[in-house]
Amino acid sequence: MTVSFIDIKTHNKLMRKNAINAFAKVFDRGDFILGEEVELFEKDFAGYCGARFGVGVNSGTDALFLGLLSLGIKPSDEVICPVFTYIATALSISYTGAKPVFVDIDKRTFNINLAELQRKITKRTKAIIAVHLYGNPAPMPEIMRIAKKYKLKVIEDAAQSHGARIRIKSNKWQKVGTFGDIGCFSFYPTKNLSGCGDAGLIVSNSKAIFERLLMLRDQGRRGSNRFTHYIRGYNSRLDSLQAAILRQKLKHLNIWNAARQRMAGLYSKLLKNVPGIECPHQENNHKHVFHLYPILVKRRDFLQRQLRGYNIQTGIVYHRPLHLQPAYNDLRYKRGDFPVSENVCRHILCLPMHPALTAKQVKFVTECIKKILK
Ligand SMILES: Cc1ncc(COP(=O)(O)O)c(C=O)c1O
Repeated sequence: MTVSFIDIKTHNKLMRKNAINAFAKVFDRGDFILGEEVELFEKDFAGYCGARFGVGVNSGTDALFLGLLSLGIKPSDEVICPVFTYIATALSISYTGAKPVFVDIDKRTFNINLAELQRKITKRTKAIIAVHLYGNPAPMPEIMRIAKKYKLKVIEDAAQSHGARIRIKSNKWQKVGTFGDIGCFSFYPTKNLSGCGDAGLIVSNSKAIFERLLMLRDQGRRGSNRFTHYIRGYNSRLDSLQAAILRQKLKHLNIWNAARQRMAGLYSKLLKNVPGIECPHQENNHKHVFHLYPILVKRRDFLQRQLRGYNIQTGIVYHRPLHLQPAYNDLRYKRGDFPVSENVCRHILCLPMHPALTAKQVKFVTECIKKILK
């Protein structure tokens, strides 16, 4: 049996007819740039999240970058983000000219450490980027309390967590992306909701932020006057073809997330008492959407190599925390500055996870792990 880490092909087969029909509609209409499907998808996705507005852009990275600009982040500012995340979180800060300030993570949830977050706030801090890593919600109510106390803006990097939720009252859940000033999503082809190329979107409840984002993504244009540019915006529009496909796929997102959650539950059950393995932690009031299923293993590289021998693909997401990335040498952090993240990078292993994964495959993977680690 071969078990792939992610499986875009099987997923695409299920969607083929709908995707091609959606594609054909746009193709025949020819409204490729900011066409009807873009506005429809923006409304659908914002509605799905429970936000008032959505602005489609050309990637998750641009969602973060333009999002920061829409909140007025400028070169003299500092923006706090976790040191253990995909580099785009920090790059978006750097693109604005502001300085990324890194914070270590909580060793159980892999999300930002709240005590250290508070210690890193200075007079120059203007915003916090909270990342919902692997599909696991960051502690948003607590982050919002800290932000309110220090008058900081909050950006949620929800690139890996479409549909993840936090219980805010006994019978009320709120989706990630809607706690902060803005929520930023990526639809990169491997994500829980994925396009056939690059795509991203920002959600917000603020009309002022929404209107600024519309100009930022479209070279500063506003309304129907095509050649008046009110600000020096960018070309970062969500493609109509991507929007059309994403709109069809959105209808299945809850089913796909539920499939991921079921397989994650099975992994956790079958690996529960295996010595040397820690399964992902989910807070009581959080609904994880398992973009990935990360375990911590003492003999990580050995296990990965051996699993490969059984045709089981796994992933190391991520090998390095951001302070040890050459791109951030100039910040002059050193090894040992973020011990939790450094330790996680040595031991993290992401097991196969995608909506088409079967219980039989999960059982096979866990049996192989037990055999290898015996
Ligand atoms: C946590 C996180 N932030 C930002 C991004 C950037 O998204 P994109 O690849 O669509 O630019 C990604 C995507 O990989 C991500 O995982």
